[in-house]
Amino acid sequence: MDSDQTNPVVNYYNRTESKVGYQVFLGGTKHFGFYNKGDRMWSFRAALRRMEDRLGESLALPRGSYVLDAGCGMGDVASRLADKFGLRVKGIDILDFNVSEAQKRVNERGLSDRVSVELMDYSNLSFEDGTFDGVYTMETLVHASSPEEVLRGLFRVLKPGGRLVMFEYSRDPQAAVSAKVNYAFAKVNELSAMPSFQRFDHGVLEQLIAATGFEKVAVEDITANMLPMVHGFSIIGWVPYQVAKWLNKTHKLVNAMSAVEFWKYRKHFRYNIYTACKPEEN
Ligand SMILES: C[S@@+](CC[C@H](N)C(=O)[O-])C[C@H]1O[C@@H](n2cnc3c(N)ncnc32)[C@H](O)[C@@H]1O
Repeated sequence: MDSDQTNPVVNYYNRTESKVGYQVFLGGTKHFGFYNKGDRMWSFRAALRRMEDRLGESLALPRGSYVLDAGCGMGDVASRLADKFGLRVKGIDILDFNVSEAQKRVNERGLSDRVSVELMDYSNLSFEDGTFDGVYTMETLVHASSPEEVLRGLFRVLKPGGRLVMFEYSRDPQAAVSAKVNYAFAKVNELSAMPSFQRFDHGVLEQLIAATGFEKVAVEDITANMLPMVHGFSIIGWVPYQVAKWLNKTHKLVNAMSAVEFWKYRKHFRYNIYTACKPEEN
């Protein structure tokens, strides 16, 4: 199966700005970094590894546990969890160039006994029921056209007692913010193929997780810990974004636009860690 070129998510990540930007600034990794007080804003790679460590700590699974990385990108998160936390990871992604690069990186790191990667849509999982001890998404569910369907699939492939962890954004409700904020979010979400982020008012995703059947649902707001990277990207992206606006070509510089607009409207979104468990069988 090749990536579906009619899929807006595939088209978003296939753009030159996206490929070059992620490669140059983040080495191909596609998530935000985590900053403690005093950490240097421009040390992006160190911040990425700290965020991946937060994910490993949130999963809190014993070494040797088998986990699903839904939307694994280039496999850097999976590699970190295998290397530092001793997890066995199955990565899936909808983009064929991500899957081939992820498998290459895993092999080069000598982790192929613990990590494998496959081209698969997280809306249509082909795994048996109860395959995994844990499942996680790192900034990927926002791309889903039906998060309810994705959550049902993740629930199905988890073992009873298995753990769900999601690092995802939420936003102020449309009715609570100005037309300018609504316009900026709608535009970024449309051009970045994030229909679920458009829907994820604060409180919505945890309700969806609970409605799927998960228990012990918890949310931790770590926005303050990721904002330094948004700030850094807004500085990098400001001039290109102004030029793109002047030329009426903002659709060519979506990441620069997102960085500038999200920094400007940083009070109106949150970056959250969602955790939950599939109930044990009675
Ligand atoms: C922001 S990137 C995060 C990548 C990776 N989790 C990381 O942290 O580096 C979102 C990823 O989700 C993947 N993705 C989006 N929709 C997907 C779907 N329906 N099935 C599988 N992967 C998907 C994209 O291809 C992309 O690699």
